[in-house]
Amino acid sequence: MFKEVDPPAILSNAEKKVNIYQINGKPTVPEDVDNNTPLEELNLNWTEKDLPEKIRTKHVNRLHPYLGKFIPQIVEIFLRKYFLPGQTVLDPFCGSGTTLVQANELGINSIGFDISEFNIMLVNAKTKPYDHIKLKKEAHDLLEKVRQVLDKDDHPNLFSESTDKSFSLKTDNEYLNTWFAPSALREILVFRNLIEEYQNKDLFKIVLSRSARSARLTTHFDLDFPKKPQTEPYYCYKHSRTCYPTTDAFKFLKRYLLDSIKRVEEYSHLRTDAKVSAIHTDSRTATIEPVDGIITSPPYVGLIDYHAQHNYAYNLLGLADNSTKEIGAAKNGSSKKAKEEYKQAMVDVLSNTSNFVKVGGKIIVIAGDRDNLYPEIGERAKLKLESVVERHVNRRTGRRNTEFFESIFIYTK
Ligand SMILES: C[S@@+](CC[C@H](N)C(=O)[O-])C[C@H]1O[C@@H](n2cnc3c(N)ncnc32)[C@H](O)[C@@H]1O
Repeated sequence: MFKEVDPPAILSNAEKKVNIYQINGKPTVPEDVDNNTPLEELNLNWTEKDLPEKIRTKHVNRLHPYLGKFIPQIVEIFLRKYFLPGQTVLDPFCGSGTTLVQANELGINSIGFDISEFNIMLVNAKTKPYDHIKLKKEAHDLLEKVRQVLDKDDHPNLFSESTDKSFSLKTDNEYLNTWFAPSALREILVFRNLIEEYQNKDLFKIVLSRSARSARLTTHFDLDFPKKPQTEPYYCYKHSRTCYPTTDAFKFLKRYLLDSIKRVEEYSHLRTDAKVSAIHTDSRTATIEPVDGIITSPPYVGLIDYHAQHNYAYNLLGLADNSTKEIGAAKNGSSKKAKEEYKQAMVDVLSNTSNFVKVGGKIIVIAGDRDNLYPEIGERAKLKLESVVERHVNRRTGRRNTEFFESIFIYTK
């Protein structure tokens, strides 16, 4: 007799580790979540098809590249599950501001800390209200002025005799002189030198930084941490052909200016009057008013240098360098000693910031905790671990397509 057997498993070994794949095939839709949604029903294992890049990087979430941000949909789900409009959430590692952007959309007040000044600039540019007519007018005026200066500028030292030093188109900054072709650097410096006269200068600085990132002498396939300037044509893995290092920054300035205007306008339709406050500080020592809970994704041991990833912005805008206070910086490695230091730093952050959380409030930490450090960190910070939700991250595309697990630790104060 023919005996029916179980169909072969269609899940990969990695997928089998996450029970939720078997329980419920459909990933959670953020808008369907509220305070009553059971944790066990959450399915956070989106595939690339479920959650394409365009949706993960909607409106201001892609105002500027940032390596190491979490996806807005995860934050939205936990904001909806554990917070109500009018309450306040703290993100002690706010990075590019995903928590603050999404909280505001839901009418939840938010406070963010970050040790990197560029990140705070970025969060402010994303979340502030804009007068869109004025913004468009200023952007148009700025581009026109840049064009006029560049047209006149048949020699690179147009402003070198100016008494105003800030208008010099020569720079003795070694990073800038090494990482840009002279023509691209000239365009970038003209734009930078004109920005200060505009009301919307903060957004224009983000545009400048994004353009500088694209206009560096790098290969197209290694924009995150290029090791040395690329001055010759090269075989491009991204485009499968020979590509040339760029000598032009103006096209990026124009493109990103228009894109940024579009993104802040899209967000303005979702923005609420909830308060947003981004503070440049060390989370181990910062103090604030009471909050209802915390949602954060901390830096991990030896993974990313958060200042260095935007070093073009630090060099162009003269921002403060607090990189020695970065927790878990890649440059400190992931040795046993580095892990011990990391654990202590995270205990300090959670002990300090949980002081501001009301009793019973939730502290939600999203981390790819491959060394299983967080149960101990929570215990030492005197937090009660209520649950851990596992998430299989398999949606990445391009050269960074390795899959991994992320854990969402839910602690109670
Ligand atoms: C994983 S990222 C956060 C990304 C964020 N969730 C987002 O969506 O953009 C961690 C952040 O922690 C910040 N950081 C590192 N050490 C810090 C410290 N001592 N105090 C405050 N922020 C710190 C880094 O600058 C980085 O922006």
